[in-house]
Amino acid sequence: MKLFHDVSSVRNFTQKRKNEQKIGLVPTMGALHPGHLALLEASQKDNDQTICSIYVNPTQFNNPDDLKKYPRTLEGDLELLEKIGCDAVFCPTDQIMYPPDQPQLLHLDFGYLNEILEGQHRPGHFDGVGLVVTKLLNIVQPHRAYFGQKDLQQLTIIRQLVREFFIPVEITSVPIVREASGLALSSRNQRLSPEEKETAIQLYQTLLFAQKQYKAGTDLSTITQQARNRLNQDSGIQLEYFEAVRVHDFQLLEERTENQPIAFCVAAYVGDVRLIDNVLIN
Ligand code: PAF
Repeated sequence: MKLFHDVSSVRNFTQKRKNEQKIGLVPTMGALHPGHLALLEASQKDNDQTICSIYVNPTQFNNPDDLKKYPRTLEGDLELLEKIGCDAVFCPTDQIMYPPDQPQLLHLDFGYLNEILEGQHRPGHFDGVGLVVTKLLNIVQPHRAYFGQKDLQQLTIIRQLVREFFIPVEITSVPIVREASGLALSSRNQRLSPEEKETAIQLYQTLLFAQKQYKAGTDLSTITQQARNRLNQDSGIQLEYFEAVRVHDFQLLEERTENQPIAFCVAAYVGDVRLIDNVLIN
């Protein structure tokens, strides 16, 4: 497995192979878990070469404490990547991604997507995600890039970015991987105590409740209100939002829309760990 730290070496790797081989990129912030492995597996299946990037991107953390506490497990991550046969890893430093001797002037504004759900509760987050994903796609220049469905709004902004900037890459989304309890896998789960983990299961349970109600024909505003009430009743959960959205453009929905994919999305703190999850319908 090749390990790259700088822009020219990873770009050379891709450029040398690009004409004959398909290249897949799996961007991550490390602390790899089976959710990431599903992305890597999808890339390995679709492509001849898979590159995993590991970079904890400071510009997407609106909360400095969250950035400080974000798990960093590079050695274990590299061992795991080697074991599963990943072809190359790109681990840049902050100096490479945001050179301190060059002004970093650009900001990305995703319009209404910045004002709802994750955009609203994490000001500046999508600007940072958009910047780093654009940098990674331009550096590596893969044919395909893989992102998890757990970060559903992130997927929407990445698709928007690729479309508006005509970036020649195919974006592939990979379904959420869950623990047996239903808890969606996340690097942040490492920070939950066993009791908090028990509490966190409520998020998925409530999403399933909403999904069942939707299938039974209940109207959407009743469902979202009931779901919020359920979560607010649990003193271990501090709910940020529970909403229904139309998947293709992330418009918030108040009323049922038949024959269009919709998703229920939730974000909440359990202890001091912020968790998100969603389920798709239709
Ligand atoms: O989903 C993530 O892990 C991050 O937001 C990403 C896409 C790697 C950008 O830093």
